[in-house]
Amino acid sequence: MIPDHIIDEVRDRADIVEIIGEVVPLKKAGREFKANCPFHDEKTPSFYVVPHKRFYKCFGCGKAGSVFDFVMERQGMDFVEAVKYVAGRAGVEVEEVRGRKPEEDPNRPYYEITGFAQSWFREQLLDETVGREAREYLLARGIDADVAERFELGYAPDEWRAFRDAAVKHGFDEDLMLNLGLLKQSERSKEPYDGFRGRVMFPIKNVSGKVLAFGGRILETTSGDGPKYINSPESPIYEKGRNLYGLSRAKNPIRREGEALVVEGYMDAVSLAAAGFEHVVAPLGTALTPEQAQLLARYTDRAQLLYDSDTAGLKATFKNGDVLLEADIHPSVVTFPAGEDPDTYVRAHGADAMRALLKDSIDVMERKLQILEEKNYFSSIDRRRLAVDRLLPTLRAVRDQTLQDIYVGQVAAKTGVLPDTLRQDMKKAPRVRATSGGDRRAPALPPKPRSLRGGAERHLLKVMVRGVEWVERAAEVISAQDFDDPYHRAIFEALLADPETRTPPPSMDPVASQRFHEILVDPAELAHGTEIFSKAVTRIRVAALHRRAQDLQARIEGSRSEEEKLELVAQKSRLAAEIRELDENYWVSATRRRPIERNPNETTR
Ligand code: CTP
Ligand code: MN
Repeated sequence: MIPDHIIDEVRDRADIVEIIGEVVPLKKAGREFKANCPFHDEKTPSFYVVPHKRFYKCFGCGKAGSVFDFVMERQGMDFVEAVKYVAGRAGVEVEEVRGRKPEEDPNRPYYEITGFAQSWFREQLLDETVGREAREYLLARGIDADVAERFELGYAPDEWRAFRDAAVKHGFDEDLMLNLGLLKQSERSKEPYDGFRGRVMFPIKNVSGKVLAFGGRILETTSGDGPKYINSPESPIYEKGRNLYGLSRAKNPIRREGEALVVEGYMDAVSLAAAGFEHVVAPLGTALTPEQAQLLARYTDRAQLLYDSDTAGLKATFKNGDVLLEADIHPSVVTFPAGEDPDTYVRAHGADAMRALLKDSIDVMERKLQILEEKNYFSSIDRRRLAVDRLLPTLRAVRDQTLQDIYVGQVAAKTGVLPDTLRQDMKKAPRVRATSGGDRRAPALPPKPRSLRGGAERHLLKVMVRGVEWVERAAEVISAQDFDDPYHRAIFEALLADPETRTPPPSMDPVASQRFHEILVDPAELAHGTEIFSKAVTRIRVAALHRRAQDLQARIEGSRSEEEKLELVAQKSRLAAEIRELDENYWVSATRRRPIERNPNETTR
């Protein structure tokens, strides 16, 4: 038995044109390929291969199916053999799992819920009265009914329990819906309520098109407030850093175009795709992760980065540029006029102007050099030294040898540092890379943070009460479940619900209220908001991951099934890599380093 998700992956990654093309002389016809049918006699071609839908069909004899069907039919293989054969061609490793039926996918109940939720949100958007305001909002942003339907947008009505009531009526489990963030529950009111209210809903899918999570944008007109976007928390089926918004529909356009457009947000992706730039994806959160870059690298080796041109946008551009280079993707940078993002630009100026902008994009290293030049980094010796330091991470990130040679040449020419010296500098302090999850054994976890934890939660809350923008930033990177202390969690939730609240809500638990009060009146000013914010966030997330790792360890130890154990160990090793990555960033920015010690509770199998 081959697990479903492996079969999906093989189908996704296989080049159906190449595999069928080996035995049938295919001719390109628009987006399809055609030939005389190999399954019946004919003089004019009625056999079609449709790569973007991954199937073939003969309009003469009616034979049709997937790449697997073709191989089975032509080569007389059974299904498992066909999958293995195609997998070999697509470079996917296939492991058969003994005696496990595909319907035993433990996450299936989750997918049933997200699938239901997507269609329910869609119905609300289409509903004459319920969806009117949302439809008007979308129309005002250039998204008509047709586009909304193509991108499977929906609407979560501004009510407390509309989704919940519908889902419960369908027999879905409330606990699972709580895990998915579709429902929420406060400390006091035991009755769960809708996690998304008064929001346009963007379904987030995995590569094979299963709905994993949602992003919800508030309508500008909604009376209630809250952050602009709410995203589903991580869940058993959703790991934010391992998925890219839009990839399931963009992957074939990306292959076709030979490049991907990387934008920041949902609306940018939808607007661009609606304007005909379908090869567009967005990372879900702030920065592109190495896993996301690797995912993209399956489909292309080139990317264009389309971020705002302000300082924050440039920072994100270069950070993501390095991550892409490390995944062997060559990035270039598109520059927008000040104040515009891809969504506003393409709507204001049209597709042709957008195309021109894409054509003018500049290689990421060249763009970096340009900016350093603009800031006079090459005018004095001291500043040149600084410039080299800023360029080294990019030089180190490049995987492609030729590109690296070119970059070293460019930097040498600009700074006057000899290429050999640069190469030596590149070898120094090489980046410590997180181990990737290929290994079966669960690696030892980095040390568990101790004292900082409760402090970090409190620090974060203290920064959050400074202003709405901090609440929004926090909402992007952390979810209530990440908090260990239930009182802190309640305060966090209260701030998300009303970022401007400066008094504990009456329904709040008295202990939480007291803490909230203390946080609000604490006279100690936290001087470096940004630094404290990012350190606190990292600490909290690491602590949360450690808790998850501990749960997993307990499950590993309690598991009787070898197969389940392997899966759990794999999950744990992904967690360990994530922790290490976060920790690394933390330690790099922290002034004091502690030696990495082994956690004595760890077992390596
Ligand atoms: N984002 C988020 N949570 C927030 C704010 C932003 O998750 N509270 C994410 C979303 O994916 C968003 C992206 O960051 O699309 C970029 O944010 P921003 O530039 O503020 O929004 P836009 O994408 O321009 O959204 P819109 O055009 O709808 O205002
Ligand atoms: Mn925007």
